[in-house]
Amino acid sequence: MVDNIKWHLGEIDKAAREELLGQQGMVLWFTGLSGSGKSTIAVEVEKKLYRRAKASYRLDGDNLRFGLNKDLGFTAEDREENIRRIGEVAALFADAGLITLASFISPYRAGREAARQAAGAENFKEIYVKASVEACAERDPKGLYEKAKKGEIENFTGISAPYEEPENPDLVVDTEKLSLEESVKLVLGLV
Ligand SMILES: Nc1ncnc2c1ncn2[C@@H]1O[C@H](COP(=O)(O)OP(=O)(O)OP(=O)(O)O)[C@@H](O)[C@H]1O
Ligand SMILES: [Mg+2]
Repeated sequence: MVDNIKWHLGEIDKAAREELLGQQGMVLWFTGLSGSGKSTIAVEVEKKLYRRAKASYRLDGDNLRFGLNKDLGFTAEDREENIRRIGEVAALFADAGLITLASFISPYRAGREAARQAAGAENFKEIYVKASVEACAERDPKGLYEKAKKGEIENFTGISAPYEEPENPDLVVDTEKLSLEESVKLVLGLV
């Protein structure tokens, strides 16, 4: 498959783009159960970065499923491919010099590890947005837990599909204990 293709190197590299932007291109990868707070935190972090004149870009689970990944569902295989593509896209954004905020349940360790490899470990921070299934089901911002419990959604993480907790995240944000503001502050500490 890769026999007849060859990487074509340009003359402007990541370091040059970073110098232009005055920042380090990186991926802040938010993982956690649905309703744990990934998107809510990422949106606030994006606002704070913008006000500090830092160039960032947010990639979010549902949003990418409208386009790039609209051919994928929620089986283990499709989730794996979903995260593989997003990991590659996030790596490109980081290579462009942007602070890339990726919020995806990303339930499998292997998928998150692949995303880290794609971006380069030195450019990648895994943030575990932690809240119990009970707390997430209580919040249920999209009404998904209600549906999952009635059996209306198959392969729902935490209910009928597994979530593999990060073993060595760069940061744990416990949203049952911390306010949104405190959570955002912790994340900004990584940048
Ligand atoms: N410290 C906190 N940080 C973020 N969200 C919090 C916090 N405390 C409570 N919440 C609430 O938790 C909910 C999180 O919803 P959000 O859509 O951000 O979850 P998500 O992890 O992006 O889920 P999904 O995987 O379905 O996209 C919101 O209703 C938010 O107000
Ligand atoms: Mg979300």
